[in-house]
Amino acid sequence: MANTAAAPPAAPAAPAAPAAPAVLADGVDKTYPDGTHALQPVHLEVAEGEFVTLLGPSGCGKSTLLKLVAGLLERDGGTLSLWGRPPQELKHGGRRLAFVFQAPTLMPWADVRANVRLPLELAGVAAAEAGRRVDEALALVGLSRFAHALPHALSGGMQMRVSIARALVVRPQLLLMDEPFGALDEFTRHKLDGELLELWRSQGLTVVYVTHSIAEAVFLSQRVVMMAARPGRITDEVVIDEPYPRTREFLVTPRFAQYAKRLQDSLHRAAGGEAALTDAGDDEGGAAEGAR
Ligand SMILES: Nc1ncnc2c1ncn2[C@@H]1O[C@H](COP(=O)(O)OP(=O)(O)O)[C@@H](O)[C@H]1O
Ligand SMILES: [Mg+2]
Repeated sequence: MANTAAAPPAAPAAPAAPAAPAVLADGVDKTYPDGTHALQPVHLEVAEGEFVTLLGPSGCGKSTLLKLVAGLLERDGGTLSLWGRPPQELKHGGRRLAFVFQAPTLMPWADVRANVRLPLELAGVAAAEAGRRVDEALALVGLSRFAHALPHALSGGMQMRVSIARALVVRPQLLLMDEPFGALDEFTRHKLDGELLELWRSQGLTVVYVTHSIAEAVFLSQRVVMMAARPGRITDEVVIDEPYPRTREFLVTPRFAQYAKRLQDSLHRAAGGEAALTDAGDDEGGAAEGAR
């Protein structure tokens, strides 16, 4: 623009609008067709870049809530927005979400590469671009050397990494994970927890994570949203105000035990005094409860 005296003064910059939360579920509830009231109206807000965990015993509606956020289930009531827009407009905002289930759900006849490439094929991404993205996703989970392996040749932990690569290949901003490491042994689970935190940091992801392990929730999260069953509802929220990176040493600190105790007490109250979880925080990584 010409710098003349006639030019109007530049308008003062508008104050930056507060960023819309990555997830805002307000009054969202769900009753299944068979009449099961799985979730009372809940309010869940997740800020961009946050790592939030939904924690609670089996049947408290964790998966239901996560699927509602993902649009995999229709909600009965309330409103849901992702980055301030209705979920169906997510793509128009250039945003993507990905969902990781507990079971890796890989195609057994297809190699690792083909499994990771699947979402891109379904989205019609051109072959060369898809190839680059698959390479990138495999590198992120440390599986580049296993690109041509078949799933059955891989350990449970490696299969889960394939499943995570398949989620990352769409370059999501929001990663929804439903007990992704619940079926793994404790050692592998802890290793993958550490890798997940590194991915969260390096990729600038927003993560909503579901677990029934108090120890895993404390280790991973910035904030833990506590849920209770019959009916499914949110009962409490605990901020885990600890720096990252979090290492194994964090698991044996008094602060870790305090957070775990706080959640255990909260759970106990919500369950009306009946202990619903056995996974106290004073063991490393938590008791490996069976897969659901
Ligand atoms: N498809 C379904 N049809 C009927 N009831 C369901 C269905 N899925 C889950 N439920 C019930 O809804 C409640 C919440 O389930 P869910 O969200 O899977 O809990 P969580 O993931 O915390 O274990 C449970 O009582 C469960 O049995
Ligand atoms: Mg579940």
